Amino acid sequence: MESPFKVDILKGKVALITGGGSGIGFEISTQLGKHGASVAIMGRRSLVLQSAVSNLQSLGIQAAGFEGDVRKLEDARRVVQSTFDQFGRIDILVNAAAGNFLASAEDLSPNGFRTVLDIDSVGTFTMCHEALPYLKKGGLGRGSSGGGVIVNISATLHYTAAWYQVHVSAAKAAVDAIGRNLALEWGTDYDIRVNGIAPGPIGDTPGMSKLAPEEIKDPTKTPVPSYILGEKWDIAMAVLYLASNAGKFVNGATIPVDGGLWLSRPRH
Ligand code: HXC
Repeated sequence: MESPFKVDILKGKVALITGGGSGIGFEISTQLGKHGASVAIMGRRSLVLQSAVSNLQSLGIQAAGFEGDVRKLEDARRVVQSTFDQFGRIDILVNAAAGNFLASAEDLSPNGFRTVLDIDSVGTFTMCHEALPYLKKGGLGRGSSGGGVIVNISATLHYTAAWYQVHVSAAKAAVDAIGRNLALEWGTDYDIRVNGIAPGPIGDTPGMSKLAPEEIKDPTKTPVPSYILGEKWDIAMAVLYLASNAGKFVNGATIPVDGGLWLSRPRH
């Protein structure tokens, strides 16, 4: 689908996207790149990264892939440094790396719980923390002299409760809290904006194929009769809004992008 944004809104900017080689993260990488940003993607799987980088480059996007696990401080530090070395600045950090599986709370081991918090919550904080020195120096911020921008990919699970997702719900609640607190501290001190996007179920993603209960895929069984799955494009457009100057007055927000699904209850 065609973008409603001008193609040069991120011209000269450099974006680092964790989990940027596949799923929603890859669409974010693509759209940031198509709108002028140079794109560094971080992920654990080198083959996925290589193929993603080739795809981005074939679209004329300046792209580089850096292998790393957001759970490891040394990886976070190295990837942030490599991004700076390659492109000379970092303006936008998108935390899209996430771990996920369905498990009932009774069957989930404490280590399984911790693993997802390590990836989603600690990983997000670690990446923000390591990128801070670079984000301070450049970026879009709220004015031309402002700092950079952080966008965290969250979820809507924890707005209520979600079956077999206690680990992810807790992890994403922490992601939202991290975003608000960093927005307060770094918005005030460095003019860095920190926001989140909370996608609903998005078609054609690893998350959907692993997690979605069958009734979500079957529109006749959902609580919202006209409900349709979102597209990765919808999430990428929301990131573009927040990452560009269009979102210059938005800080500390998490925007649900789910067609209103989280509001729904069965009719009675
Ligand atoms: C129960 C599980 C499990 C499963 C792992 N564990 N998978 N428990 N059911 N299916 C437990 C293990 O038993 C272990 O605990 C602990 O978690 C660590 O497991 P490892 O396999 O050693 O971890 P690791 O190799 O590091 O992999 C972590 C991972 C991750 C979380 C499984 O690789 C992963 O999920 N990757 C998929 C990424 C993905 O799908 N991303 C899209 C996210 S979509 P014990 O106690 O045995 O040691 C998304 C959307 C959210 O986030 C919103 C949806 C609506």
